[in-house]
Amino acid sequence: MQAQLTHLQTQALTAINASDSLEQIEQLRVRYLGKKGELSAVLGGMGKLAAAERPLVGAMANTVKEQIESALQQQRTHLETQAIQAQLAREAVDVTMPGRFVPQGHRHPMQQTIDRVTDFFIGLGFSQADGPHVETDYYNFEALNFPPDHPAQDMHDTLYLADKRLLRTHTSSVQIRYMETHDPPVRIVVPGGRVYRKDALDATHSPNFHQIEILAVDDRITLADLKGILVLTIEELLGKRPMRFRPSYFPFTEPSVEVDIWWEAPGKPGRWMEVLGAGMVHPNVLKHVGYDPEQVQGFAAGLGVERLTMLLYGIDDIRLLYTSEKRFLAQF
Ligand code: PHE
Repeated sequence: MQAQLTHLQTQALTAINASDSLEQIEQLRVRYLGKKGELSAVLGGMGKLAAAERPLVGAMANTVKEQIESALQQQRTHLETQAIQAQLAREAVDVTMPGRFVPQGHRHPMQQTIDRVTDFFIGLGFSQADGPHVETDYYNFEALNFPPDHPAQDMHDTLYLADKRLLRTHTSSVQIRYMETHDPPVRIVVPGGRVYRKDALDATHSPNFHQIEILAVDDRITLADLKGILVLTIEELLGKRPMRFRPSYFPFTEPSVEVDIWWEAPGKPGRWMEVLGAGMVHPNVLKHVGYDPEQVQGFAAGLGVERLTMLLYGIDDIRLLYTSEKRFLAQF
C-alpha cells in the first residue's frame, strides 16, 4: 500500500506540473483528491491492514495529500501569473513610438472674423439676431426708407425671385424684423449673414458675400458712440491701422458714413478699401417700426466680412476665400 501511495504521488505530481490550464488542474484535483478519487480508492484498502501499520500508512497518506494539494496550488498560481504576464505583454504601450498623424481642421478664416467681431459685441452687451435670406421688398427696402422705384435701389443690383420676393441685398433687413418685435432699448449683432447682389466677380467683389450688422437704439445715442465703437471694433480685429471716416449716403441712416482702411498688397500700390457702412438710424425707419424718433435714436452699421478678413490676413483676392482650397485655408 505504501508503494501504491508513492506511485500515486509521483503520477499526480507529474500530471499537475504538466497541466497548462486551470480547468485541467481542477480535473486533476477531482481525479486524485475527490471523494471518488484515486487517493480515496487507495485508502479504501486501509481496513485490510494490520492495526500496527495503520498509523504509519495514515500519516503517509496525509503527506501525499498535502503534497498533491500544494502542487495543485503552486501550479494554479504559476498559471495565473503566466496569464497576467501574457496579458501585460499583449497590452503593453510603447510610449516611445511616434504618434499617428491626425489632420486637424479649423474654422474658415471668414468664420474666425465673424466669431471675433460677434464675441466683441456680445462682450459689450449686444444680443445676437438673425433673419431670412429670401426677403420682401418691404424689409429689404421700403421699411428702410428707400422711396419706391427710387434709383437708390439700383445701387444694390437686386436679385429678384418669382412672386416679388428677392434675395436680401444687405443684412439691414434684420434691423426692421428685430425692432418690429422688440421694444427699445435695442442692441443687436447679426453675425455673418450672407447677402446677394448682381455684382460681377472680381478681386474685391462677389455676387454673394457676408455682412455683420450692428444696431443700437436707446434714448441718448450719438454719432460719437458710433464712431467710438467702430474704431474699437477695427482695432480689436486688425490692430491700429490707418483708417478714415468718409461721409456717405444710405436711405436708412442720416448722417451716413463709410469707413475705409489703408490696404497694401505686396507689389501693388496702396489704396483705401471700404470695409463698412454706418450711420444714425433715420427717423423714418424708427417710425416704420413704431418707435418714437423724438424719444429714441440709434446707430447702425454693416461690416463686410470678406474685406475685413482680407485685411486681417493680407489676402489680395476675395475669390481665394471661396475656393475651399485646403493648402490656402491651412495657412490661417
Ligand atoms: N446696409 C448697408 C450696405 O449694405 C450698410 C449699412 C448698414 C449702412 C447699416 C448703414 C447702416 O451697404
